[in-house]
Order: sequence, then structure tokens, then C-alpha cells
Amino acid sequence: LGNGLAKTPPMGWNDWNAFGCGISEQLVKDTADRMVANGMKDAGYQYVNIDDCWMTHNRDSAGNLVPDPAKFPDGIKGTADYVHGKGLKLGIYESAGTATCAGYPGSLNHEQQDANSFAAWGVDYLKYDNCNNQGVPYQQRYNAMRDALARTGRPIVYSLCEWGEDSVWTWGSATGNLWRTTGDINASYGSMLSIFHSNVKLAQYAGPGGWNDPDMLEVGNGMSFTEDRSEFSLWAEMAAPLISGTDLRGATPATLSLYTDRDVIAVDQDSLGRQGTQVSSSGGLDVLAKPLSNGDVAVVLFNENGSAATISTTASAVGLPSASSYRLNNLWSHVVTGTSGSISATVPGHGSVMYRVSQGSGSSVGTTHPLVAASAN
Ligand code: DGJ
Repeated sequence: LGNGLAKTPPMGWNDWNAFGCGISEQLVKDTADRMVANGMKDAGYQYVNIDDCWMTHNRDSAGNLVPDPAKFPDGIKGTADYVHGKGLKLGIYESAGTATCAGYPGSLNHEQQDANSFAAWGVDYLKYDNCNNQGVPYQQRYNAMRDALARTGRPIVYSLCEWGEDSVWTWGSATGNLWRTTGDINASYGSMLSIFHSNVKLAQYAGPGGWNDPDMLEVGNGMSFTEDRSEFSLWAEMAAPLISGTDLRGATPATLSLYTDRDVIAVDQDSLGRQGTQVSSSGGLDVLAKPLSNGDVAVVLFNENGSAATISTTASAVGLPSASSYRLNNLWSHVVTGTSGSISATVPGHGSVMYRVSQGSGSSVGTTHPLVAASAN
């Protein structure tokens, strides 16, 4: 969407996957505090996003949405003020229908009034769901809110949550900054894998200002560490929004090490804004390549199967110009090796190996990981 926002994929957190309807001002504040303390803010995460169930069941006598006073004693405005005070931004949720999925008042036919409320409260991001849409044509519903948000004059990232219906990727970039390409994810390898398969085909539709959204990150919610690392690698390779769906108050150091890996985040956030594509996929062994702004290519070797396998490709197959030598920066181990062209690794079942591949030789150029920088001193 040409609103000047989301030039790189949005990064943040959303309560839904871990808490369902259990949203509250306290949870938002605690999460914002954690994102500052645990390094996520410094790593680029900005948005603290409220999902469904934040309001009362009825509008007020003037037709305005009302934050549930038990859940949000300081309202959305007070909550936004707190989040802004931490140097972060606040997101909210509504539905392009007569009610949200959980049955709270929807924004259909109230678009401008509700957009005005969001702007007045200091909201920076809107996730706009698809429940109870009464069969009103999708573009009418989603365009109405797009235009209402624009009229507020406040910069508000616009996230279309239409579950991949109506081939949303074909009209998403004229309407929103990101669009869900599938139904809801859950914290299982099968769910993550099937969403990956759908989303990876849609690379041509993504770019600065408009991103395919394969749903929130389930990292920390119950998959194995290997599977969590695959999700984070694949989402970064697909230039997906990096929206954590876990309880950050209880996140382990291992989980946080995935969320805050600067080298992998840099692939997601690369200014060229190209979504990675499958260079090859056979027998459940995938090679993905994502061209980066400095001419490097990010490569993911992903093993969809249950037991370890060797996955191999070449520098030329992933799109690098012909050269006598290349550097392979393993973005999770931060070990840099040289190769004359072969790119290969033994990959555990459900696992991923991720490299940034550059032309030239040498063993340390190209790494940006703070731990590597620190140990070099
Ligand atoms: C459906 C969406 O796809 C979910 O991400 C979540 O927002 C729920 N609705 C909330 O009701």
C-alpha cells in the first residue's frame, strides 16, 4: 500500500496465539517491558499488537467502540501512551464485518468512526479480520477501512486478515501493507509446513510496502527447537512479517535466541524486499534462495522429512554470478567457510540450515552477529 509504511516486513508481537481472548492492558504493558529488556526491541521488533476481545459487547450511545474497562482500565489511549513511552508502537484488531470472530462489535459500516477512534487513541497498526462479513464484497469492505485510515492522517499499518480468500495477494498491495495468505496457524509442525507450502508460491506479489503474511510465529509455543528454528528461517527467507505469538514473559533463552538472531532478521528486513523462492524441491528437500540488496543471496536448505538428509545446491543455481570462490556464512552457527561453488549440508529432520552466500574468499567478512563481534575483540 502506498502509505509509506512497512517498507520492510513489520516486526512485533500479538497476543492471540498464546492467550486467545485473554488480552489486557497489563499483558500489553508487561510484554512491552519484556521486549525492551530481552533485546527484541533492539533487534527491530516495534509493534505490540492487541487481537480480538479488547472491547465491550456494545457501542456507546454515540456509536463509538468502547475498550473493556475491566481489561483496559486506562483505555487504549492510556495503553498506547505506555507503549509509546517504551519506544514501541501499538496495534489493534477489528473485523470487516458486523461482529469480530469472538462476537464483539465489527467495523462494517462504521469504518470512519472506528478509524477516527483508533487514530485518536494513538494506534499505529490495524489487523482487520474477515468474520461476519455478511457477504459484502471483499474489496468494498477492505477498501472502506483503507480509505478511512488514510483520512485520519495518522500513519497506521494496515494488515488484511482475509485468510487467503479471494486471491487476496492479487489485490493486497493496492489495499494493505500485508495480507494473510492462509487460515490460522497453530503450534504444530504440520500446520507450519502446510502454510509454508502455500505462502512460498506467492513471492511475485510481495515487495516493499506490501507483504504476504503466513501468520504469526509459533516459535516458543510447543514445536521442537529444530522446528521453531525452521519456522523462523523460512519466515525470514519469505520476507514475512515477524510477529511473535508467544508469551514473552516466560520465553526461554533458547526461544529468545531465535527471535533475536540479527543475521537472520537482516535477511527478512533486507531493503530489496524480495521474497525467497524455491530453487528446487524434491522428495521433501527444499532449496530456497532470496536475493539481497548487496548482491549476496540468502539460502535455506530445509528438510521437510523426519530423518536427517544431505541437501545440496550450487552458487550458480541460487543465482550468484560466476566466481572462483564464495563465502558461506552459516546464519545460525555464525561459522563462515569458503567454497568454490558447492553449497551442501547435512540437515536434521524438520530442520533448516541457513547461509548468507557472498562472492569472494576470507573467513570473517559479512557476519554481523554481536556475539561474533564481541569474541573477536
Ligand atoms: C481469526 C484470525 O485469523 C486470527 O488470527 C485471530 O485474529 C482471530 N480471528 C480472533 O478472533
